[in-house]
Amino acid sequence: MNIEPAASIEGAIAVPGVKGISQRAVLLGAIADGESVIEGFGRAADTETAISVVRDLGAEVDEDEETVRVKGLGLRGLRQPDAPLDFGNAGTVMRLASGILAGQEGRFELVGDESLSGRPQERIAEPLRKMGARVETTDGHAPVVIEGGRLQPIRYELPVASAQVKSAILLAGLLADGGATRVVEPQPSRDHTERLLRELGVPVGRRGSEISVSPVERLPPLRVQIAGDFSSAAPFVLAATLLSGSELLVQGVNVNPLRTGFLDVLERMGANIAVFNRRTTGGEPTADLEVRSAPLTATRIERDDVPRMIDELPLLALAGAMARGDTIVRGAAELRVKETDRIETVTTSLKGLGVRIEASDDGFRVRGVPTRPKGGAMGTHGDHRLAMLGAVAGLVSRDGVRLEGPEAVAISFPGFFDLLESVTQR
Ligand code: S3P
Repeated sequence: MNIEPAASIEGAIAVPGVKGISQRAVLLGAIADGESVIEGFGRAADTETAISVVRDLGAEVDEDEETVRVKGLGLRGLRQPDAPLDFGNAGTVMRLASGILAGQEGRFELVGDESLSGRPQERIAEPLRKMGARVETTDGHAPVVIEGGRLQPIRYELPVASAQVKSAILLAGLLADGGATRVVEPQPSRDHTERLLRELGVPVGRRGSEISVSPVERLPPLRVQIAGDFSSAAPFVLAATLLSGSELLVQGVNVNPLRTGFLDVLERMGANIAVFNRRTTGGEPTADLEVRSAPLTATRIERDDVPRMIDELPLLALAGAMARGDTIVRGAAELRVKETDRIETVTTSLKGLGVRIEASDDGFRVRGVPTRPKGGAMGTHGDHRLAMLGAVAGLVSRDGVRLEGPEAVAISFPGFFDLLESVTQR
């Protein structure tokens, strides 16, 4: 796909519902009693995976456009399927489902695509074993085999800030016998699981960095409305910031403060973004964003900033490339275990487009020049965030970008390129 240079971004958009909430809602719906109704469901390959997995576990799911109805089987009602459960590319679904499966009677084999099969799974296996489940990984990776059953509560200190691991343990904690399960996080990570549980009337405690949940008898069905995914809005926000003369309105975006680190960092770099119409949707903060272009200055990202913008760090590299000064990211080694090694893929891709960027063990350093990068060719390596990065890079480049593997974008946002084209002025 060729991405031609653009003059500006103009118009109003809305983006699909938050991927992680869509996935969580389906998983929780499957173990609730009765029918859950999920509105504003973010349709994408990774959220379809959540649906296909709960179907394979015996739950009935009805879907039309943006509404998904899940007929729950009750807290311990999931059924052992005949074949391995296929999680495709969806790391979040695999890890969260593991927490639930640890508390189900039966033997479950979890497999994924090549990228997911390269990602670490001991991080969930270890705490779930401590809770009493039998969990085997394949050299630390998928296939993962879980033999579930009775669980006991634990207190677990996460070695890295990970909402996926935290959520897996909290979900297992709902199914444990006895007291509260506690998770301590080194830095706060996204709290979509905690908020959805509270929506269901399950008390989730928080004392400092410790989050706790107690076992429940049953879960009531969920009725939830999901706002737009900030990670899907972020490439549009960046393109509008970088292309002078832009004016973009993004309506109905989830602005959970544990997700919007990129917004705060762009603002401190000089971006012109108004956040207004603040409201609450499905227990989560929502707002509209108005973005006008602005010149940026370089910034520094340290370990504590990372979890709140982990999935937007590829875009930050491009922001840094066009900001005045050197932008430095540190404490982001987690990027190496995402859908691709994003320190490697982002730095080599941007280098190929003429950006002066160097990788480090746990981040990167990019030399900003407030002019357009040259452009050229880059591949997505099957990584949806790389597809979005390549698209924005093409728009802000001098010569355009030839993007190989753009279809990877469908992992989180199948309509991305059409929507981008609809607001692009050339
Ligand atoms: C997610 C958490 C993050 C993020 C991923 C989605 C989630 O991963 O990178 O895209 O929905 O919980 P980690 O929790 O492993 O950092």
